[in-house]
Amino acid sequence: MDVIVDLQYGDCGKGKVAHYLSHKNSYTHVLRYNGGCNAGHTIFHNGKKFVTHHIPAGVFFGVKSIIGSGCVVDPEQFFREIKMLEEGGVSTTGKIFIAKNAHVITQAHKDEDHNEKKVGTTGRGNGPAYRDKYGRTGVRAENVPELKPYLIDLYDEWFSGKDLNILGEGAQGFGLDIDWGDYPFVTSSHCTTAGALLNGLPAQSVHDVWGVAKIYETYVGSKEFQPKGDVFNRIGDIGEEFGSTTGRRRQTNWMNMQTLERAIRINGVTHVVFSKTDVLRAVGSWAVIDKDKVVEFKSEKAMQDFVLERLATMGVSKEHVFFSDSKETI
Ligand code: IMP
Ligand code: MG
Repeated sequence: MDVIVDLQYGDCGKGKVAHYLSHKNSYTHVLRYNGGCNAGHTIFHNGKKFVTHHIPAGVFFGVKSIIGSGCVVDPEQFFREIKMLEEGGVSTTGKIFIAKNAHVITQAHKDEDHNEKKVGTTGRGNGPAYRDKYGRTGVRAENVPELKPYLIDLYDEWFSGKDLNILGEGAQGFGLDIDWGDYPFVTSSHCTTAGALLNGLPAQSVHDVWGVAKIYETYVGSKEFQPKGDVFNRIGDIGEEFGSTTGRRRQTNWMNMQTLERAIRINGVTHVVFSKTDVLRAVGSWAVIDKDKVVEFKSEKAMQDFVLERLATMGVSKEHVFFSDSKETI
């Protein structure tokens, strides 16, 4: 399995990397391994924009796409998404599966989460669904009749004796991880490489780990995140930083090197993609936060050299680092 993890607060471009890797490698499966329809993956396929919440990017290439046991599924949203894909010309028949032991987001979960304010959730029922899963009062996908045609047993799937090449596609990000994020301003699932393994995969199955970050940070939720300064509003405007699930404006900040370092180490990252370098180029300012201090750079090149040098000290060589300035590819 190759794993895609987000090194910050979600919305770093995992969908784009999934799309790129699915083109480059031949995967037998794409596995969404955590989260629910709180996620919003924006994918440009054949020049068309798609926003998916549940369904992994593999479906755009006819690869078997699985919503894993680490996920929670809203059947209503799931069927809406299938319809949206079909109407957009993407064939889903026989391609989309749900682990039978994934948990279900019910109407009651959505009602409860709908006007949540403390954390600033996406209101999609994610937290209540995971609470009920761990409280042992939840409902599994296998108990929902409409989902029957899509169910899959992950043990049978992974250990069928066939050669598999899996792409693990995460949702949200390290800064929102239930254990490693800034609790309680987190999501309710495991957004790490370890979270991918929770879907019935043995530790030895991990090959490459693609960490995705933005060249600046964004966060959407209730905590105060954006520092004072016009530059941050400009980054948000030029970067079109609005949530793809909720439409909320994302707060922005410079990239925090220590968040990045923690995420790279804990996830065992081998490759890094920095998205949206074109945005800082348009803003004309380059900086990071390193050990609580803002470090400014005179040029894009100076910032990239600084970042590359830091990553090299962490075992990520510069051939494995990509600075992306396109929505469609790395
Ligand atoms: P929840 O996951 O809806 O419970 O929301 C918890 C926190 O995670 C909030 O700050 C959300 O804005 C954030 N969040 C959840 N999913 C995403 C995502 O896909 N991208 C970015 N932020 C997210
Ligand atoms: Mg998103």
